[in-house]
Amino acid sequence: MDIGLIDGDSGTPGKKHFQLDIKLHPTQKIVDQDPSRFVIARCGRKWGKSTTGFVKSIKHAGIPGAIVWYVGPTYKQTKRIGWKKIKRLIPREALQRKPNETDLSFTFKNEAEIYLMGADEPDSLRGPDPNYVVLEEAALMDPDVWYKVLRPNLAPKKAKALFIGNPKGLNWYYDLWQEAEKQPGIWGLHHYTIYDNPHIDGEEVAQCRLDCKNEAIWRQEYLAEFESDAGRVFHFNEADVFKTVRDPQRTAICYRGIDWGMRDPTACLWAYVEAGILKVFREHSQANLAASQQAQLIKAKSENLRCDMTALSHDAFRQDPEMKGLTVAWHFVRAGISPLVPSSRDKAAARDLIQKLMDEGKLQIDPERCPMLRRQLQKLEWQDTLLEKTEDGDDDSCDALHYLVYLLASRLLLQVEKSKTEKRDKNKLYLPDREDRDSARFSQSGDPVYHVSQ
Ligand SMILES: Nc1ncnc2c1ncn2[C@@H]1O[C@H](COP(=O)(O)OP(=O)(O)O)[C@@H](O)[C@H]1O
Ligand SMILES: [Mg+2]
Repeated sequence: MDIGLIDGDSGTPGKKHFQLDIKLHPTQKIVDQDPSRFVIARCGRKWGKSTTGFVKSIKHAGIPGAIVWYVGPTYKQTKRIGWKKIKRLIPREALQRKPNETDLSFTFKNEAEIYLMGADEPDSLRGPDPNYVVLEEAALMDPDVWYKVLRPNLAPKKAKALFIGNPKGLNWYYDLWQEAEKQPGIWGLHHYTIYDNPHIDGEEVAQCRLDCKNEAIWRQEYLAEFESDAGRVFHFNEADVFKTVRDPQRTAICYRGIDWGMRDPTACLWAYVEAGILKVFREHSQANLAASQQAQLIKAKSENLRCDMTALSHDAFRQDPEMKGLTVAWHFVRAGISPLVPSSRDKAAARDLIQKLMDEGKLQIDPERCPMLRRQLQKLEWQDTLLEKTEDGDDDSCDALHYLVYLLASRLLLQVEKSKTEKRDKNKLYLPDREDRDSARFSQSGDPVYHVSQ
């Protein structure tokens, strides 16, 4: 493919052509040739969005002095991935000088410039007024980035913009598409899927299909459909999961899952297993308390219960020099919350277990007494569905549920399928130390005392 760059050196308007080492595939060509001022290419994973965005940017740099802004959702990601990819595509001999690694910019011989930017860093969204802007994965950006930052910057030069990305639920990108449909002269709309990239092997696509367990996620991510439900991490029917759970019988054995947090809340859940069903009947959630105070509160809320094992977040077993080598776990054990099992680090596997329990009707949560857990389970959303990264936010109670379910997997007759990314965790049980058990130091309450060692 040729890009026409005016030879700025000679000052003559003779066109010099530089070859790009890529040929757009048929549907990429359609997007490329759309003359609309604003173009939305709503396309699935691996259709070739990034490639198209880069090629379009480079082609716009064919206009002498043109300024192109290439904006990705995060500065870090754009720098790490985008920068390298676009650098590979740009013919070196078309550049006036070496790529600017600090600014993430290219200056061409015709004085045109391409800037790479991240929507999450307002400081990176500055520069000379653009002639052309690409918003890659716009759905992952805050709508203000378009409405308040980018759109006004297009005004001086009546610049064009290309939105190229997957949908994310029915967020602002969906609204934008709806609005754009009403203005066909100005907006050009395109919708393609992974199946439209001839460079992706058909068998590989079939494998992706198999590996993607969730139908809504498949449709959103690969088929670029607007899915109302794909963002949610857990899929369940409210009435099936949230049912009144009575207190356990006096003889019933209970379990606790604790997600330790200092500034974030520490969350604790109490549950028992009855007829193969995990029944969560109590919760605790509080921030800004010392480990010893949290431990006392949890202990108090456990009165008259026969608590067996407790899963505690693994980071609570880390020694802290501030605490003279003691661990948060040590405080919990000292308060009688024992034995403790460090939580699994394999969140993905734990999430699968929770979903499985929900699907099989084996999870019941008392809605009145566990309002925090209920809200978090409903609200927990993927920030990146395929990388299985959740939105930052309150998920402490969900984490406590992860630990609890992972701990009880065998009792609930669940097969744990460890995720590939799992960091091995010995899931060591912190058992009583004979010396400590015999000493009277911490046993005034009459509870057995367990020593926690690293
Ligand atoms: N026109 C093309 N010619 C050759 N390979 C392509 C082309 N467009 C995309 N690809 C390849 O397809 C894969 C996905 O492309 P990419 O642009 O990263 O897709 P997306 O951003 O939509 O996930 C990459 O391996 C890329 O090199
Ligand atoms: Mg991409």
